[in-house]
Amino acid sequence: MKVAIVGGTGAFGRALAQRLAELGVDDVIVGSRDPDRARATAGELGVEGGRNQDIVGDAELVVLAVRSNATLETAANLADAIGNTPVLCVASDVRFTDAGVLPGRHQGSLAEEVARIVRAPVASGFQSFAAANVIDGDPGDALICGEDSDAKTRALELAERLGARAIDVGPLANSRALEGMTSVILNVNRRYKAHAGIRLTGLP
Ligand SMILES: NC(=O)c1ccc[n+]([C@@H]2O[C@H](COP(=O)([O-])OP(=O)(O)OC[C@H]3O[C@@H](n4cnc5c(N)ncnc54)[C@H](OP(=O)(O)O)[C@@H]3O)[C@@H](O)[C@H]2O)c1
Repeated sequence: MKVAIVGGTGAFGRALAQRLAELGVDDVIVGSRDPDRARATAGELGVEGGRNQDIVGDAELVVLAVRSNATLETAANLADAIGNTPVLCVASDVRFTDAGVLPGRHQGSLAEEVARIVRAPVASGFQSFAAANVIDGDPGDALICGEDSDAKTRALELAERLGARAIDVGPLANSRALEGMTSVILNVNRRYKAHAGIRLTGLP
């Protein structure tokens, strides 16, 4: 599968690219707003790189891995370049306060908003993966939602390649729960100095 990682110079996109490159089963392209930065990261990882808008066109899955508060603006800027290529949204809104990390929104989800912006089918998942655990090949369960679409199938495939147990958790609106869980995990990480992930019990 050809995977284009928008924002692939960041902590999470880079972790995905590094692990996929090590596994050697997918074509990986890392993107950036700055082509030199993309090429520098790509060179370090031994993959391809380029400007975000130039890498999404011929991918089979676009992973939207820019900083969360740039997700919607980036989706709008890239909508035409992405066209109908399936998108995986990994973003969560969170708010850092003195009392701890809080969910960043009261309703809806970033993934549902992305789905309203782009023409392509959108899946949401990987919010419970820690970049460090992706690199180690043990990211935990991958809870992935989306309507019946290529996007979800490809996201589930990608999760399994990364060593996760890939679990379909229903329609895209369930991204509200996946994104909401991020603040829970970040509080756990702070409290226990950990890189926590999620594992469901009771599955066959
Ligand atoms: N970090 C994790 O462990 C983790 C785990 C699961 C999910 N996620 C999700 O993955 C996404 C990326 O997280 P991250 O920690 O990798 O973030 P990050 O390192 O802060 O940023 C990722 C990339 O976003 C791009 N970016 C920054 N500002 C931008 C803007 N205004 N417009 C467009 N692009 C911009 C930058 O790329 P260029 O400057 O090169 O364009 C940057 O390298 C987030 O949505 C996060 O919620 C992260």
